[in-house]
Amino acid sequence: MTARPILAVRNLRVVHRSVGFGPARVSVAVNGISFDIARGDTFALVGESGCGKTTTARAILRLIDASSGTIEYDGLDLRALRGEALRRQRKRMQIVFQDPFTSLNPRHTVGSIVGEGLIVHDLARGAEVAAKVARLLEEVGLSAADAVRYPAELSGGQRQRVAIARALAVDPEFLILDEAVSALDVTTQAQVLALIASLRDARVLTCLFIAHNLAVVQSVASTVAVMYQGRIVEQGPVTALFAASKHPYTRAMLDAVPVTDPRDRHARTPLAGDPGAGGGAEPGCAFYPRCPHPSKDAVCRAAVPPLRAPAGESAAGSAAGSAAGSAAGSSSGAEEAQGHGSAHLVACTKAVPPSL
Ligand SMILES: Nc1ncnc2c1ncn2[C@@H]1O[C@H](COP(=O)(O)OP(=O)(O)O)[C@@H](O)[C@H]1O
Ligand code: SF4
Ligand SMILES: [Mg+2]
Repeated sequence: MTARPILAVRNLRVVHRSVGFGPARVSVAVNGISFDIARGDTFALVGESGCGKTTTARAILRLIDASSGTIEYDGLDLRALRGEALRRQRKRMQIVFQDPFTSLNPRHTVGSIVGEGLIVHDLARGAEVAAKVARLLEEVGLSAADAVRYPAELSGGQRQRVAIARALAVDPEFLILDEAVSALDVTTQAQVLALIASLRDARVLTCLFIAHNLAVVQSVASTVAVMYQGRIVEQGPVTALFAASKHPYTRAMLDAVPVTDPRDRHARTPLAGDPGAGGGAEPGCAFYPRCPHPSKDAVCRAAVPPLRAPAGESAAGSAAGSAAGSAAGSSSGAEEAQGHGSAHLVACTKAVPPSL
């Protein structure tokens, strides 16, 4: 696909400052990431808790300020938007969170939750609101009669459908699903994933799909970026990543994917250690303390490995590959390349042997 990206993120950096007693604590939640999402595509951002996924989403939606970098949406510089222009833009981009228990007001009916955006953005009035709410509920697999129910009367899957209907009410082009299926059981998860895919295709939505495990993204995303401590460490088409991941962290995450086929007996190595918080405190590869690669050495600790095409692969047409935030020892040209971001890129100084 050669479509111009609808979202282009370059060198995004977000620093949290916590002020309290004593000196302010600074944590680098997102440390120079770059990626593109083409219109109509689903791009997955995956990594353990605390790696910076939600912070990335909040910076894109302008719910928090980025410290540096650019976020371009359909030709607009999102970081520069103010006032009415920002309000108009917010209608184009919506988010669904993990936990509908906290994101849905328990005192409001489903109808008023889903209809609120229609009223706020003056998209419907009077009886038209109820009619549109009924259509939205049916679109997400609920019934129009559910409008009078309260969130506590619904199952987890139904609540998440309400959250999706609420997001769709303002007719957005871009949907962020932040761990939207993580709290659901496996069967419900599959149903909601199928719903997301069919809504995306029917409405030509572009999606940023956030998850902490790789298993859930395989059926829904076309491109995956794996994050570790604020940086993207591997990015590529979902099929390539699942078939031949190159980064030891991605491989460890794939090892954690539950196996349903008893014939799949390859050795599984659970990842030890704590991911820690924030990136950029130490020089070199942040994954070093946990990395199981047999050849990891002082080179890994000398500088942050840049994100580039793996040896023998071309980065032509890839996203700007500066996600590692360091130019040390680059390069294959991935750093300068521009495009839709579906080329395979990896930030690791060692080639990963297939047997690892
Ligand atoms: N408002 C905040 N103030 C200070 N630190 C924060 C804030 N929000 C997130 N963080 C920190 O930023 C890092 C990334 O958090 P987050 O983006 O929520 O990760 P994820 O969504 O991948 O679990 C974590 O270390 C987290 O503790
Ligand atoms: S750069 Fe070195 S420490 Fe980091 S993932 Fe690659 S082999 Fe492991
Ligand atoms: Mg999160």
